[in-house]
Amino acid sequence: MMPKQVKCQIIDHQQLGPLYFRLTLASEYISTTAKPGQFVNVRVSDGFDPLLRRPLSIHRVNRTEKTFQLLYEVVGTGTDLLSQKRKGEELDILGPLGNSFDLSQVKDSAILVGGGMGVAPLLFLAEELKGKNLQILIGASSNNCLVCLDDFKQITDKVQISTDDGSCDKKCFVPELLKPLTAHSSQPIPTFACGPKGMLKVISKITTAQVSMEARMACGIGTCLGCVIKTKSGYKKVCKDGPVFDSKEIEWQI
Ligand SMILES: Cc1cc2nc3c(=O)[nH]c(=O)nc-3n(C[C@H](O)[C@H](O)[C@H](O)COP(=O)(O)OP(=O)(O)OC[C@H]3O[C@@H](n4cnc5c(N)ncnc54)[C@H](O)[C@@H]3O)c2cc1C
Ligand code: FES
Repeated sequence: MMPKQVKCQIIDHQQLGPLYFRLTLASEYISTTAKPGQFVNVRVSDGFDPLLRRPLSIHRVNRTEKTFQLLYEVVGTGTDLLSQKRKGEELDILGPLGNSFDLSQVKDSAILVGGGMGVAPLLFLAEELKGKNLQILIGASSNNCLVCLDDFKQITDKVQISTDDGSCDKKCFVPELLKPLTAHSSQPIPTFACGPKGMLKVISKITTAQVSMEARMACGIGTCLGCVIKTKSGYKKVCKDGPVFDSKEIEWQI
């Protein structure tokens, strides 16, 4: 489906933690056409600062209510401005953008791995795969950085958590939780991951995964080449060829 520029009314805007927010927006077009792994480009200001839209993953859709959600962390000017938007206001949104996770690989089981805000697109994916044998692995730096755990636990009871500081469940980086799941399986289990680049690189050494990559973006529609990454088949645009790539295709440069 072609991306469209749409005005979306804010239906709800919840603060989930000191820097974490969940935004519910009305759009029949985006809620009915978006696929897991896609993102939208959000205009956060009516003026020229910041000029560029900010890319955020589609976190969840409700096709009955014709709404979709974004989950974001305030990290700078754009996300700070976004956090100040109130229920009833309208946002200028371009989307849905990018490719999506390939769900055709999933027969009975799948593993979803999210690090930090990388959980954002995985809830949409988990809800689409509901009913399959899902293992969900979530990593965060600390207990107070874990978001939407209850939403994942409503989909499957196989949710494992790791924190870097050990403040919740296992003290390790989240790829460590993946190792035993892949080691004891005779067939490769389709694995989907989103999170910091370092985490995705480690995962690519453990198994083949569909990874959602991040890059600084400008146009978001494939025209400026601002978001290219190096792959085995040349440079690719994260906004148009991605954000989802086969982990074995990436030339990891970190
Ligand atoms: C396809 C895609 C999907 C994304 N989905 C989400 C999401 O669902 N939730 C979420 O919280 N964030 C997501 N991001 C990251 C988000 O776009 C940035 O955090 C946001 O644009 C920062 O804007 P800002 O003006 O607040 O920060 P800025 O002032 O622009 O930057 C603040 C800091 O964040 C870093 N930063 C900014 N943009 C990126 C980026 N794209 N990748 C890595 N580091 C960045 C900068 O280097 C700087 O250190 C996504 C990015 C991409 C490319
Ligand atoms: S952001 Fe312009 S080509 Fe990707």
